[in-house]
Amino acid sequence: MTEEFVRKNVLRLRPYVPGKPIEEVERELGITDIIKMASNENALGPSPKAIEAMKKSLEDVALYPDGNCYQLRLAVAKHCGVEPDNLIFGNGSDDIIHMIGLTFLQQNDECLQGDVTFSQYEAAATLNDCGCCMVPMKDFTFDVDAMADRITENTKLIFIANPNNPTGTMVTQKEMERLLARMPERCFLVMDEAYYEYVESDEYPRSIEWVKEGRNVIVLRTFSKIYALAGLRVGYGIARPDIVGYINRVREPFNVNSVAMAGAIASLEDPDQVKRSRELNSSGKKYLCAEFDRMGLPYSPSEANFIWVDVKKDSVKVFKEMLKRGVIIRTGDIFGAPTHIRVTMGTKEQNERFIAALAEVLA
Ligand SMILES: Cc1ncc(COP(=O)(O)O)c(C=O)c1O
Repeated sequence: MTEEFVRKNVLRLRPYVPGKPIEEVERELGITDIIKMASNENALGPSPKAIEAMKKSLEDVALYPDGNCYQLRLAVAKHCGVEPDNLIFGNGSDDIIHMIGLTFLQQNDECLQGDVTFSQYEAAATLNDCGCCMVPMKDFTFDVDAMADRITENTKLIFIANPNNPTGTMVTQKEMERLLARMPERCFLVMDEAYYEYVESDEYPRSIEWVKEGRNVIVLRTFSKIYALAGLRVGYGIARPDIVGYINRVREPFNVNSVAMAGAIASLEDPDQVKRSRELNSSGKKYLCAEFDRMGLPYSPSEANFIWVDVKKDSVKVFKEMLKRGVIIRTGDIFGAPTHIRVTMGTKEQNERFIAALAEVLA
């Protein structure tokens, strides 16, 4: 097929580059015993209660799922302290980013984002024929004042991943208040909080309060990260009911499957698993940061379950050498940082194996 058949903005889209799957490395390199520390998954895995609930839900897969996610809606509303009609559910939060783009963006609108951030914001802008203004970050952290300076009469959506992927850095309540104060009524702020359950800082913004105050804010959360349900695909957005209502018009009728709903509801009933995940992450972060200090490798302060490190060498070469040692990480080149890698915190054993392999590769 020739390119003329394809929408011009689709031609400008670049396919998403995911972390390399374990099976692919097994196939390509003929090795086993591989660990994946590349996609910010939770090494502890999901709650056993969620696994039980998902097994049980398999009995009903002949039926369509509840398109309105009634039970999950009640559970998440209670969990977040919001009303059920403040919630929109998606096949992962990726789906919600996509729906937000479809709902609000038209040609000549513009999106604002940092220049090292999650790829799907730009994808949503491009798909909907909009420009995306990439505002340079300061030390890999969003520069909210510079972002506010770049707001024009065309700016429609402002994307903040907090903590940010791939850098793990956080913007504070005070910084966000400054940005909100300069955000005109015709703009929407999308606070993507995929990693918020991992945050340890007490300066983390209370973004749900802005929704309750009636601001143009959409908060995104997911069951893929701390709840370890990435393979199921379930995320949610929190916003004013009128905003939710518009997004709901573009939603596919059954975009969250019944197994995912069962797993997500049961996960919320197991706060101990969340606590264990946070503890594992926190100790892993301390260990890895201490090792990076010892090795003289600069890294960004992380509030997430991964660390953005400058290995001071071509990260693609480092990635390939790490693969040979059975460790999958993420290279920084796709984010425009050719000597950085992003590594997801693993179990104690995985973290130690990663450090041993990295020391060998960098030597
Ligand atoms: C910042 C950010 N937002 C959204 C997502 C998508 O998550 P989900 O699995 O809920 O689609 C990711 C996944 O890596 C992410 O890092």
